[in-house]
Amino acid sequence: MWTTLSVFILCFFSPVCCVFQKLYCTLSDSCDCDFKPNIRDLEWDLYKNVYGQHLAQEIVSEEVARFLQEKNPERPLVLSFHGSSGTGKTLVSSMLGGHLYGSAMSSPYVHQFIPTLHFPLANRVDEYRTELKTWVQGNLTECARSVFIFDEMELMPPGVVDVLEPFLGPFHVVFSTNYRKAIYVFISTTGEEVINRVTLENRQAGRDREEIRLSELQDAIAQTVYNSSHSGFFQSSIIQQKLITAFVPFLPLTRLHVERCARSQLCQQGHCQRADVVEAVGGDMSYSPTQGRFFSTTGCKAVPAKINLFL
Ligand SMILES: *[C@@H]1O[C@H](CO)[C@@H](O)[C@H](O)[C@H]1NC(C)=O
Ligand SMILES: *[C@@H]1O[C@H](CO)[C@@H](O)[C@H](O)[C@H]1NC(C)=O
Repeated sequence: MWTTLSVFILCFFSPVCCVFQKLYCTLSDSCDCDFKPNIRDLEWDLYKNVYGQHLAQEIVSEEVARFLQEKNPERPLVLSFHGSSGTGKTLVSSMLGGHLYGSAMSSPYVHQFIPTLHFPLANRVDEYRTELKTWVQGNLTECARSVFIFDEMELMPPGVVDVLEPFLGPFHVVFSTNYRKAIYVFISTTGEEVINRVTLENRQAGRDREEIRLSELQDAIAQTVYNSSHSGFFQSSIIQQKLITAFVPFLPLTRLHVERCARSQLCQQGHCQRADVVEAVGGDMSYSPTQGRFFSTTGCKAVPAKINLFL
């Protein structure tokens, strides 16, 4: 009888551990891989180190916690991050991957896809689809708890990710693998116009940023990614079938947030007391719109470069 304990003992004493573990995973359908989720740490990291993103903090904490509570989830967790560059989308996706596995983002079970690297040519969509399906299927056979991160979805040739539709839905067994424990994160700037407009209107109306609700943005983002030809989800069945668990908006950042980014990075470099540099970095960013100059046009993206300039 294969039990988790016997696998651990084998792993401890035997150099052929890997082979046994793989066999165990295949047979038992309950393989943990290197899966050591720490929701508390994820929540803490999100609240402490992500600035100005109350929606992302709430949605990611809640959805991940809910998903991991279920021993046999009915469908995978599918999150789609949207917002302008420098607002923290990649940071949050790294935190998510980083608090799920023992070896964090270098875990072999966190898979990152970058269109310009993996899927650069629009005329090779058919090839890419076959490749992507083979990869995801292979990765899920190795570890049902795999995480797939698709960066720069605005540069993904339309049609490629549609091949994942059967993996994302609530169907029971597809291609004879349990794929419902997987986590997918899609990242794009698509939808930034509507997010930035709603945030600006909210500000002009004198309301708190934290009063912005997901319900004000969710449908508009879904429609925009579906309608926009510069979107990996252009006319995608994944959107039509409503297979995205949640759209996660990242709001444009103010000078206050940029300065918090600068302070935190300075501290990491051992320069916590350099308020002058914080101030200089905040003052050197460009802000929009012309009337009001409320939001940093590059979020926190240029902060490390500016710190080097002023330190
Ligand atoms: C898993 O996905 C990666 C791409 O991230 C691919 O290179 C690799 O071959 C896949 N593994 C399996 C077992 O299919
Ligand atoms: C998307 O397209 C549909 C149908 O053409 C239209 O009704 C809707 O307003 C569009 N939405 C956006 C946000 O462009």
